[in-house]
Amino acid sequence: MTYAAPEPQANMGQPIPRVDARLKVTGEAKYSSDVDVPNPAFAYLVTSAIAKGSIKAIDESEARKVDGLIDILTHENMKDAIKQVPFMSAGGPAATSIVPLSSPQVWHDGQIIAMVVADRFEAAREAAHRLKVTYTEEQPSATFGSHGVTEKAYTEARSKEKHENPAVGDFQAAFKTAPVQVEGSYATPTQHHNPIELFTTTCVWNGPNLTIYEPSQSVTGLAHGAAAELKLDPSQVRVLSQYIGGAFGSKGGITPRTAITAIAAKRLNRAVKLVPTRAQGFTIATYRAETRHEVKLGATKNGKLVALSHEGWEVSSRPDDYTVAGTDASTRMYACPNIASAVNIVSADRNTPGFMRAPAETPYIYALEVAMDEMAEKLGMDPIELRRVNDTMVEPIKGLAYTSRSLMPCFDQASKAFDWGKRNPKPGQTRDGDWLVGYGCATACYPTQMAPASARVRLEANGTARVDTAAHEIGNGAYTVVAQTAALKLGIDVSKVKVEMGDSTLPPAPVAGGSITTASVCNAVAMACDKVIGRLSSGKNTEGDHVMKEGRLVAANGEKEELAKAFERIGAGAVEEYAEFVPHGSKPGAMAQVYKGISPIIGGTRDKDRIAFAFGAQFIEVRVHARTKEIRVPRIVGAFAAGHIVNPRTTHSQLMGGMIWGISSGLHEATEIDAKRARYVNANLADYLVPVNADIGSVDVILVPEVDEKVNPLGIKGVGELGIVGTAAALSNAVYNATGTRVRDLPIRIEKLLAS
Ligand code: MOS
Repeated sequence: MTYAAPEPQANMGQPIPRVDARLKVTGEAKYSSDVDVPNPAFAYLVTSAIAKGSIKAIDESEARKVDGLIDILTHENMKDAIKQVPFMSAGGPAATSIVPLSSPQVWHDGQIIAMVVADRFEAAREAAHRLKVTYTEEQPSATFGSHGVTEKAYTEARSKEKHENPAVGDFQAAFKTAPVQVEGSYATPTQHHNPIELFTTTCVWNGPNLTIYEPSQSVTGLAHGAAAELKLDPSQVRVLSQYIGGAFGSKGGITPRTAITAIAAKRLNRAVKLVPTRAQGFTIATYRAETRHEVKLGATKNGKLVALSHEGWEVSSRPDDYTVAGTDASTRMYACPNIASAVNIVSADRNTPGFMRAPAETPYIYALEVAMDEMAEKLGMDPIELRRVNDTMVEPIKGLAYTSRSLMPCFDQASKAFDWGKRNPKPGQTRDGDWLVGYGCATACYPTQMAPASARVRLEANGTARVDTAAHEIGNGAYTVVAQTAALKLGIDVSKVKVEMGDSTLPPAPVAGGSITTASVCNAVAMACDKVIGRLSSGKNTEGDHVMKEGRLVAANGEKEELAKAFERIGAGAVEEYAEFVPHGSKPGAMAQVYKGISPIIGGTRDKDRIAFAFGAQFIEVRVHARTKEIRVPRIVGAFAAGHIVNPRTTHSQLMGGMIWGISSGLHEATEIDAKRARYVNANLADYLVPVNADIGSVDVILVPEVDEKVNPLGIKGVGELGIVGTAAALSNAVYNATGTRVRDLPIRIEKLLAS
């Protein structure tokens, strides 16, 4: 076994290489804008240079002189062309309710205000730069503390499902009398996903039917949403998204560019290809909202939590109450009899934020886990022991049992591998030459969520199979785990399974978000395979009770039959079965909603009778230069338990990627905003800091065996988001251990340490 492909332990499948690896490394895998369409015209976006106000005039005269220019779409010729579809929080598929080109109004910096279409990309860009736009500008509000922002409780939000603040007991009274108290304020910055693949869209009409090539985490959602926007029947729209070059949540909702591109293609009766710039990606899609937190913890002298309060504030746009409300998770991690929580939305003149890898847990568990470290220090207790004393198999708000919870086994394995025993609990004491050395740890968690999913499996007599499901390969390894699940069930080699995904005409699957894909889709695939096996065994006296192994149908009594024989016996050319997996707790009609492009996510903290989470433990060593305060991270160790691991290689990859991004979120990444103009000032990959190889030292990922017999039939918990959660807290705690300075607002940068 290798670093990338860990030895499978109990309840883990084989670490097979990705089935699409060769296509990707050879460049054969076609990403949306790579797809050849006949005679495309090229579109270029013009975006607003102000954050609030309206367009006074657009002078097209210079742009019209560009050779090859075909069309200019602005609010003047596009008014009413696009029907608004509901925003996500209101139960719809739209990432924003702002509809550009529907009026001269400007809601945020970088809003789409025109699309220029030309014969060549360069001509479109040239003409776009020649458009002269004049504005009536108003003073925008950028962020927390800006003049003109408004604040409201999340319970008052314009969302379809009203949020309930988790609470139990009497926090105020318990906190007041708690022998040991900790209070902390924490902050996390605006961050952008920056997937390497840009937010491209190509639209091709064939008579009344539209094909959209666009990287999407929800092809069914995009097809239905775009149909609604364009006043088409959903059957007229097909979305193809077979390979996606990074998404992380940014490609989950419908952005305005799609419908505009489709209308441009319709007007021209020609395919239109849009490739926006990296900078435009900062404002035409979504991002991780800036947050603030107040955490209060009260404990007994032996470390038992008696009071916990978490209040959060999140920046959103003016029209959309986008909120992540990570208090749903942060109030349920530890046993505690008295809990209070609240979430507030601060509306500013910004583009609407959206999901970004562990949207809720990344900021909220960061705040909780730094507060836990502060509590451990005040108690004079080891941070691991503080988690152990408060570990629970039952969440404290409603008393619901975890389907499984291996938090302490994760801490035990990670701390051992990390050699935590060497840590000096007194900060600022450990030195290696000019470098101050610090150790920190934190809990990782992610709700195990699912949504209904469907799949079709066809097995042929020659032992080849095909799986169809409108799921998504966002780099997560979805093609691989789906192929592996079918291969295992059908008793054939994984190379004999062809998987089709990323096409809205396939059996619907939910959004590739909330780490739900493997748990949701693999269960549907396994069910369809079981039906295939059932068909093959039909008519036998042992009917129904069969498995498939090594190309044979095997009865419970051990009787074996070659596949070709079984096909002959039932007189079939191929066996094709369709199955729907509807997870525990789903409301009636949930699968029908998936058919309409909606993903009714269930599980996590959403069930009435149980709670489901995957857990982990993160350990980080930092070295801070005593004089310059340069921060290095030589090593990180994470141990994670997530039920049945379909593929230790793809799981390792997901967790490692999450941990590295966690370091990045704690140390590097922040989208800087000009507070006066409410404009992003580092909207490019040169100024938006992300770690490079030299910033990342040793990354040790430990997969902790776990069996969960309740969570879903295959016992799978998602891992896509788990690895990023808690990392920034572990980092922050390590920096404190090294220096004695608590930086409570991310990212932790040299200047913040120098200032203390
Ligand atoms: Mo993920 S942020 O739910 O795509």
